[in-house]
Amino acid sequence: MLKLKLLKLAVFLAALIPLARLGWKAYQHMLGANPIEVITHSTGDWTLIFLMLTLGITPLRKLTGQHWLIRFRRMTGLFAFFYASLHFTTYIFLDKFFDVNEMLKDIAKRKFITVGFTAFVLLIPLAVTSTQGMIRRLGKRWQMLHRLIYISATAGVVHYWWLVKADVRKPQYYALALTLLLGYRLLAAQRKKAAPARLAAQSRAQAATGA
Ligand code: HEM
Repeated sequence: MLKLKLLKLAVFLAALIPLARLGWKAYQHMLGANPIEVITHSTGDWTLIFLMLTLGITPLRKLTGQHWLIRFRRMTGLFAFFYASLHFTTYIFLDKFFDVNEMLKDIAKRKFITVGFTAFVLLIPLAVTSTQGMIRRLGKRWQMLHRLIYISATAGVVHYWWLVKADVRKPQYYALALTLLLGYRLLAAQRKKAAPARLAAQSRAQAATGA
């Protein structure tokens, strides 16, 4: 129990390193000629990384049998939302100087912004309902609602893919990771669906052989 708590604290502190690095660089005037761009890119990257980590926990837990890993899912998910909020805040405060009209025009006109905004908005209900109380209150509906993360992560990857001008390698890596993570879930769901039929066939075969 104590070990898990310490590990959680370590993961929490590690998850703050990207922010601390940005803060330190800003303090040292080391963010280069375009600090807004550096902050937008870093926070965008870390949002996607935390989304992938969150989606990776269930497959890793099932494949390794290390069920305690699930205890980290809420934290990584909330960090994805945290970095997405910083990313969005950088955009509205620093990039658009909080010009709501400019911002709305951008969201409507530039498709990579539209899809990024969608990804962000979809994370809001997930963050709001991440508490134990909400999990209890929503019951089965909680799981359904939290499947929005699949759409949010997909929209996040599309957002990245659409915004890069030349070298699409990085968004491609994210797309590959996402395909594997969602593909695993699809296969697991299919296996679960087919399980009763498989069991029935097995018991019929056993009955026929008298085993
Ligand atoms: C879950 C939501 C989001 C994710 C995962 C995400 C992810 C990313 C990533 C990975 C990058 C590129 C980082 C790099 O070049 O290394 C990026 C850039 C950017 N994002 Fe997002 N983003 C999200 C939401 C948003 C929202 C809501 C907005 C604004 C409404 C936004 C505006 C931008 C802008 C302006 C850039 C820089 C574009 C450029 O350099 O040309 N993003 N984002």
